[in-house]
Amino acid sequence: MLNILKNWKNQHSAASNMECYTKENILKGEIPEHIAIIMDGNGRWAKKRAMPRIAGHHEGMKVVRQTTKLANELGVKALTLYAFSTENWKRPKLEVDFLMKLPEEFLGTYLPELVEENVRVRMTGDREGLPPHTIRAVEKAIRDTENNDGLILNFALNYGGRAEIVRAAKKIAEEAKKGTLNTEEIDEKLFSDYLMTETLQDPDLLIRTSGEIRLSNFMLWQLAYSEFLFTDVLWPDFKDVHLLQAIGEYQRRGRRFGGI
Ligand code: FPP
Repeated sequence: MLNILKNWKNQHSAASNMECYTKENILKGEIPEHIAIIMDGNGRWAKKRAMPRIAGHHEGMKVVRQTTKLANELGVKALTLYAFSTENWKRPKLEVDFLMKLPEEFLGTYLPELVEENVRVRMTGDREGLPPHTIRAVEKAIRDTENNDGLILNFALNYGGRAEIVRAAKKIAEEAKKGTLNTEEIDEKLFSDYLMTETLQDPDLLIRTSGEIRLSNFMLWQLAYSEFLFTDVLWPDFKDVHLLQAIGEYQRRGRRFGGI
């Protein structure tokens, strides 16, 4: 009996917490300017339904659309989505091929709406190694949206945080060797400018879905002072209410950047 009461209480308070996370309420607080998301759990979502893993990725693509729409409506300035890591090449060829076709399908379906909604598409990651058809789709979207000044939808594709840092260090070293850069000039700001995220400001909030609590080589430099939010929800199940809930949690946290 006691357990039943406890369960009821938990469910009840969870439900009433959810009710606070309306768009209207969230807009009363500070909106994170840059949200980064590790979209995890597509495979498990599919497995639970006895479907192939790629079905989970396809469902995840639809969630990308919905999340972009809401983030834009909330006035978020940038949304970086970890769509394919440098480690993901180790997956079976069929899955990799499918993931490489998703940007084309996504942009083929939704680009006109993104243009209409003033969304600007960008990509962070190594273009080398990506199939030409994937690059073509992404480059077209970047070109077609370059004059938009709403939400920046930044796809981290063929991206690895350590490789990004090494690449920046190499470029800086080459410039120093050539004499076009003085080593005294090297500071955090300059280093950031050599990263693939260049002018994008660091994420305020990192969300990872599916219950995994790790960074998986994602934005290692840029996430130094971000708020982290881990949720058990699998990415294909991530709905508007979960984004609102994540931002609500962010609004309750006090960011001190090392100060007091
Ligand atoms: C991780 O889940 C997810 C990925 C490696 C791919 C993420 C891609 C999408 C959500 C679609 C991207 C859409 C566009 C428009 C590019 P997992 O497969 O590792 O899940 P699991 O841990 O449950 O196996």
